[in-house]
Amino acid sequence: MANGILHKIPLFSTLVTSTAVKCSKSSFNSSLRHAYGRHICNCSSAVSVSQQQQRQPQIRSPQLVALEYADLSIPHIVCEELGALRVRQHVNPLSSCLSIPVEPPNWEDVFEDPKLPLVVDIGSGSGRFLMWLAKRNLGSKNYMGLEIRKKLVTRAEKWVKELALSNIHFMFANASISFKQLISTYPGPLMLVSVLCPDPHFKKRHHKRRIVQKPLVEAIVDSLMPGGQVFIQSDVLEVAVDMRKYFDAESDKLVHVDNFEPDLVCDDEGWLMGNPMGIRTEREIHAEFEGAKIYRRMYQKLS
Ligand SMILES: C[S@@+](CC[C@H](N)C(=O)[O-])C[C@H]1O[C@@H](n2cnc3c(N)ncnc32)[C@H](O)[C@@H]1O
Repeated sequence: MANGILHKIPLFSTLVTSTAVKCSKSSFNSSLRHAYGRHICNCSSAVSVSQQQQRQPQIRSPQLVALEYADLSIPHIVCEELGALRVRQHVNPLSSCLSIPVEPPNWEDVFEDPKLPLVVDIGSGSGRFLMWLAKRNLGSKNYMGLEIRKKLVTRAEKWVKELALSNIHFMFANASISFKQLISTYPGPLMLVSVLCPDPHFKKRHHKRRIVQKPLVEAIVDSLMPGGQVFIQSDVLEVAVDMRKYFDAESDKLVHVDNFEPDLVCDDEGWLMGNPMGIRTEREIHAEFEGAKIYRRMYQKLS
């Protein structure tokens, strides 16, 4: 019955399997660590870091990011108004300045056609992942990024102007506070929400800062169109498990899209084995380069 409503959405038909250089966990197997802010994640690797550096002396993960997004051809990758952008590693989403819901925009002002199906990326970071998708889906989908690091939003909006994309908009907004109200005013259907490599907030006393919490999950599920999807991923197992727990709990309204089509196959633990979006996020590129596994789930709302 659940599978009866599942259908292939073309956006997800391209499985990201390789980039110019991609380092997967299986190709490394001793102690390799990757940083997440001030924290260090342990990964496994088959070769030592120095052996790996000898093999790939010229490639660094920022170059891989540039390669991955090369098609975007952003004219001024260093934003003149903001200079070489230095952003704070973390912003506290519970700070008082982020506790007031943002005003919904006038949708006619921000999208050429505000009735198109909407894709929302929560914690959109630099925004390049979403711009890449928007460029490929001009005229068929709108994209919105929600982000609490203001400088990233300012720069993303500048890039959007330079690329003359009329189907994407970034907002300086705390998704936990603003998502529900914002989306309730959008004139078209909500077809996909993604939460990709959210800030892990490792310390137990900071877990309440994590973006995926019950009220946001309920707001996402309620706002999605029938057949709409939620895509989550993290390179931190503990964070992925935490997010999964919340979305799995919505099993009366959401099904996990696994083993349904060849591109969406799961491992034994139920994590998707590939990225179904056709493009990786920046954090994902850095993490995979450093040998981390990415834990992914894709859900679909029942009719
Ligand atoms: C680790 S980064 C990942 C960025 C991007 N998704 C990626 O995978 O490369 C997480 C992003 O989420 C943003 N963020 C954290 N809490 C948020 C919230 N409550 N609302 C909107 N954005 C948030 C952070 O500022 C940060 O840019």
